[in-house]
Amino acid sequence: MNNITITTMSRFFAFIYDAMLANTEEACLQDWRKELLANVYGDILEVGAGTGANVGFYPQTIRSLTVSEPDKFMRKKLKIKLSSNTIKQCVIKNFTMENIDLADESIDCVVSTLVCCSVKNPVKSLNQVYRVLKPGGLLVFIEHVAAENNPARLKWQNRINPIWKRISGNCHTNRETEKYIKQAGFTIKSIEKSSMRKAPAFVRPTIRGIAVK
Ligand SMILES: C[S@@+](CC[C@H](N)C(=O)[O-])C[C@H]1O[C@@H](n2cnc3c(N)ncnc32)[C@H](O)[C@@H]1O
Repeated sequence: MNNITITTMSRFFAFIYDAMLANTEEACLQDWRKELLANVYGDILEVGAGTGANVGFYPQTIRSLTVSEPDKFMRKKLKIKLSSNTIKQCVIKNFTMENIDLADESIDCVVSTLVCCSVKNPVKSLNQVYRVLKPGGLLVFIEHVAAENNPARLKWQNRINPIWKRISGNCHTNRETEKYIKQAGFTIKSIEKSSMRKAPAFVRPTIRGIAVK
């Protein structure tokens, strides 16, 4: 794809993103975000923050929030969402998850929701998350993943992946994110595996939970 096509597609993706997810947000995602983000504290980094779907769910007690989003069209929407939030220390950055521009062991909790599917290199990204977290720090995640216990669905995920990732901002249908989290050195503290209702069947299997450094 040439640069003009990529820019047009990312502008379009940012434009439709909230509408595209609206039914799924109502069916389950908002509840999951609310429940998981109640656990964060201190200095927070949210990676791949998109249009800011998590912004309203951060506890008022956190010390600071750094949100990073590499896509400029998504970032524009994120800025609007953040302008009406009441978190005092809030910074927007544009780094990717593979290249987190923060000091080692400087963050209490990292939030990644529906991002590991889209990054170029999930292992490198999770290594970076591990690096910036303080010892005992938390990775809070919601990710759609490969259908590990459903061979028929996994077959479809593998088939559709080459097309889907091209039209949906590099979103992969078949990532084994739990494995990558463990490979990065994390201990899984809690994990739920369930279906993301009202989403296309090939992105329905999800994991959500908390991993500890
Ligand atoms: C499916 S959206 C999820 C947005 C948001 N986290 C949410 O829960 O609605 C994936 C996001 O990851 C971002 N992204 C893509 N590649 C990335 C990378 N390498 N590092 C960080 N974010 C990335 C995209 O720009 C997009 O905003």
